[in-house]
Amino acid sequence: MSYYRKVGNVPRKRHVVHLGSSGSRLVEELFGQDGFSAASSLLYHRHSPSALVAIEPVRRSSEEIRLDERLGPRHLRTGMLAKVNDVGLERHTMLGNADVALSWAETANDSSLYKNASWDELVYVHSGSGNVETIFGSLSVSAGDYVVIPKGTTLRWSPQPTLSLLFIESRGHIRSPQRHLSKSGQFLEGSPYSERDLRAPDSPLIAEGENVAVLVRHHSGISRHIYRNHPFDVEGWDGSLYPWILNIHDFEPIVGRIHQPPPVHQTFEGDGFVVCSFVPRPLEYEPDAVKVPYYHSNSDSDEVLFYSAGNFASRVGSGIGVGSISFHPAGFVHGPQPGSYESSVDKNFTDELAVMVDSFRPLSIGESGLKISDEDYARSWSKER
Ligand SMILES: [Fe+2]
Repeated sequence: MSYYRKVGNVPRKRHVVHLGSSGSRLVEELFGQDGFSAASSLLYHRHSPSALVAIEPVRRSSEEIRLDERLGPRHLRTGMLAKVNDVGLERHTMLGNADVALSWAETANDSSLYKNASWDELVYVHSGSGNVETIFGSLSVSAGDYVVIPKGTTLRWSPQPTLSLLFIESRGHIRSPQRHLSKSGQFLEGSPYSERDLRAPDSPLIAEGENVAVLVRHHSGISRHIYRNHPFDVEGWDGSLYPWILNIHDFEPIVGRIHQPPPVHQTFEGDGFVVCSFVPRPLEYEPDAVKVPYYHSNSDSDEVLFYSAGNFASRVGSGIGVGSISFHPAGFVHGPQPGSYESSVDKNFTDELAVMVDSFRPLSIGESGLKISDEDYARSWSKER
């Protein structure tokens, strides 16, 4: 995130003695990316952020993702997955590779405190509401929010009363598409969203506690760090690196007289993938326009679509509905199911709401993804209607 923000008690100059509300000296932490050559923030802690009292292994990386032995389209039904108790610890892995991993979690419980040490997290809130409490402050979340959590942020999720979450974990940093930004990083006038649409913490979040456990998700598994003091001890921070939120309904769709190409929906990018938003919008208005997408063969991408709300005209009769994930790998030409064109000709608006992840390297399938895969889906284009 490249927009400067200042929250709470911050000194006039960097790297000078600074006293907290109790009169004690605060401890400064530089939280930065890319070898401190990119975005960073300075945080002012009441206690040492390094004061560990114990490290406990929780589990090693399991073989959750495997090569898909049969290349073809899949329909993954998230509604079949069990709720989880702790999204810091448990997620149902759907698809992934070295760049990006997609997992699903529905929960009614507060998570553990955790940090992701190896991956940025872009979390799409499918349903429910609650809070995300972070060392930068608290954020309220509700359906349609994209929550961007920089790698290394300590946080916890607090559903009120439930949350259904699509986790997109990224090896590289999640960012707004470069083509929507000026050279200095301001959103261009033609961008589908802008600074005013973004939300971020606006006050510190302080919690007291000793011997506090934080789960650390990392490249080889999960560890538990026990800190001498509660990590939510930041009285103030400033900089350009912090968690932030864009609601999908603040993404302004680009529509045209005839069908617009998929990149107009692009919302975020990471290393090796992009994220697009399909939001309610008027359909094409040329009298002869075809209102469902053409068949397409994206030979350099595996395509994942999560269907969040509304009706999906191009998937008529396929079994796909709200909560479904479609996986269309490179090597498979895909397009509307039979009957889609006919059912769309009289329509002038779509209420579809979907999140797409296009990965530039092949995705492998998670064990949870395999369990909820609809084996009939691959044949749904060959059924005449
Ligand atoms: Fe597609």
